[in-house]
Amino acid sequence: MKLAIILSVIAVASCARYTGPTNQAGVNLIKEFEGWYPNFYTDPVGIRTIGYGHACHVWDCSLPLNGRYTPPLTQAQGQELLKSDLSAAGRYEACVRSYATLSTLNANQYSALVSFAFNLGCGSLQTSTLLRLLNAGNVLGASAEFGKWINAGGQVLPGLVRRREAERVLFCSSGGCATGCAGSVAATSLTVRKEPNTSAAVVTSLSSGARVDIYSRTTGSTVNGNNHWFQLPNGYVSAYYITVTSSSHSWCAK
Ligand SMILES: *[C@@H]1O[C@H](CO)[C@@H](O)[C@H](O)[C@H]1NC(C)=O
Repeated sequence: MKLAIILSVIAVASCARYTGPTNQAGVNLIKEFEGWYPNFYTDPVGIRTIGYGHACHVWDCSLPLNGRYTPPLTQAQGQELLKSDLSAAGRYEACVRSYATLSTLNANQYSALVSFAFNLGCGSLQTSTLLRLLNAGNVLGASAEFGKWINAGGQVLPGLVRRREAERVLFCSSGGCATGCAGSVAATSLTVRKEPNTSAAVVTSLSSGARVDIYSRTTGSTVNGNNHWFQLPNGYVSAYYITVTSSSHSWCAK
């Protein structure tokens, strides 16, 4: 009896769906990518903004802000404003709480989704393939969707590429995306490409020793006699330059 009670407590502690607030890693991510502006400015897509991404097309920007703050804001006021924007009724934390229904949703996944919704709007999250896959229990598949949300005004914005990748890393940081196949970069640097082909567009570059989660293996152009390519969450790398460190699948061998 006692044992059963203890076991059920453990089960609840490790599996209960996280419902907020945004954790510190998530808040830090949002702050980093929104940037800090003590005064009003116009963001790259023409929206009047202040503080940590307090956008005037979403919030009433009449002064004082939230009935309290007058620019130039102190950083502490900016953080309070951000906290209230995340938690305000019907906004981003409520959005994630309402729509991300996976029973095992953890704090890092939740917080990455809050950053996503804060940046792209709740509607984008709500109707996304990312959310559909996540709620169906396909955490790995969901994580691969972050990298698709990188366009603004018909163009790829490097800032969005970096933000989505940071969100994906946070989303996956509790191990929910692990495939059982991982490796590290065995080269001074390694180019991640859009397709398994040395002539395909460059997505990003990894530094020596960087750890990678491998989703699958495919064949492509030949690199030093090896035509295997590993699919990473954000593109493909030649298997030749990867040292496989954890392999629970036969396809994981290079
Ligand atoms: C790689 O891309 C080049 C240029 O698009 C193409 O000619 C070649 O066939 C591709 N190689 C493979 C193995 O797909």
